[in-house]
Parts: sequence; C-alpha cells; structure tokens
Amino acid sequence: MSEALFTPEMLKEIEVLYSCAMREICTKLENLRHEFEVTKSRNPIRHITHRLKKPDSILGKLRRRDWAQDYETVRDKVTDIGGVRVICAYIEDIYAIAAMLKRQDDVIVVREKDYIKNPKPNGYRSYHLTVGIPVFFSEETHMIPVEIQMRTLAMDFWASLEHPLRYKNAADVPEQTRERLTAIAQTIYEADLEMQQIYKEISGIPEEEN
Ligand code: GTP
Ligand code: MG
Repeated sequence: MSEALFTPEMLKEIEVLYSCAMREICTKLENLRHEFEVTKSRNPIRHITHRLKKPDSILGKLRRRDWAQDYETVRDKVTDIGGVRVICAYIEDIYAIAAMLKRQDDVIVVREKDYIKNPKPNGYRSYHLTVGIPVFFSEETHMIPVEIQMRTLAMDFWASLEHPLRYKNAADVPEQTRERLTAIAQTIYEADLEMQQIYKEISGIPEEEN
C-alpha cells in the first residue's frame, strides 16, 4: 500500500537519510559514553537502540493525523522516522545527557516533551527530544530530524511490557486493569527516585537546593 505514496527512489532516499542521521546521533551518544567510562569511571548510558520507521507506519501516521499524503509532508512533519532510544541508569543522567547533546553546535532542538515531569495519564514516563542534525552528502546537506527517547532502565521495563498490552487489546482492557498498570508506573517512578537517592548517598554527591 505504501507503494502508492513512495516511489522506489523516495524509499531509498528515506532509508539513507534517516539511517545516516540516526548514526550521527548514536555516535554522539557513544562518544559521551566513552568519555564517561574513561574519565569518570561510570556509565550513565546503559544502552542505545535505534529503529527506522517503516513506510506503512509513516503512511498510518499521515492518515491518523489527517495530513496530506505526499512526500513533502513526510519530510516536513513526520519527525520520528529516525528513532533513537537511550536507556540511562538514573533520572538525573537523562537530563545531563540531554543537556550535553543540546549544546552541541550541529544539533538543533526541534521539540522537547518531558513525560518524566509530566507523565501521560496512563503513567508513561520518558523524556522525548526531537533534534535536527545535518547529514552531509556529496552535493547537498540535509537537516534531518531524529526522535530521541530517553528513559531509565525501570521506565523502560514498564514501557516495553505495557506497549504490546495496550496496542493488542486496547478496547478490551478493563478500567481496573489500566489503573493497575498506572499504579505500577508510579511505583517504578518512586523506586527510580529512591535508587538515585541511594546512589547519591553512597557516592557522597550532595543534594541539590530545590
Ligand atoms: P506518535 O504518533 O505515536 O509518534 O505520537 P506523538 O508524536 O504524539 O509522540 P509521543 O511523544 O506522544 O509518543 C511517541 C512514542 O513514545 C511512541 O511511538 C512510543 O514509542 C512512546 N510512547 C508514547 N506513549 C506511550 C505509552 O503510553 N506507552 C508506551 N509503552 N510507549 C509510549
Ligand atoms: Mg512518534
């Protein structure tokens, strides 16, 4: 079905542009991780994964949002074709890594959604940062968006188990069951805060004012 919208050339272009953009972001994150390991002997970034949105999912998003179904709209509006996920040890690591990325000269911030401070009603917590990154090709430079989702190991545990549950039987999940999932997300958040507190106490890191 996606053939109607995307010519083979467009599919090739999407593949190459967004893969390169994701690779740029992953390299930046790997470099930060390397620096931390060597100079600070700690590892705030636990793992990094990435995925390229499939043409059918791109089309599905255009339909859901009632956006024009053309290539220009895809390039202008679908900012999560390239997706990078960063799993951190502690909540404060997420903000630290995000700040380090944001101050790099070739990174522009397109959108920031802080679902850690403002969780979704179902309890979902994560920090989403959409950035633009230049991809230098033989004849042109393209600014390509990449959506970076940052969360703790604990938040990732919840999100990765909850995701298939809600998308499979969204209509059939009883209210009470949804409330239980939300309660687990809250418990996990409290555990994250407590683990971070313990880490700071043991490492002798002073409490921040506010
Ligand atoms: P999309 O059309 O899905 O891209 O929504 P959006 O552009 O409003 O972005 P948003 O930041 O709300 O969420 C995008 C992505 O975050 C999703 O594709 C999921 O990977 C993740 N996400 C958002 N909400 C949830 C949730 O309730 N549960 C889980 N498990 N993941 C979520
Ligand atoms: Mg998305």
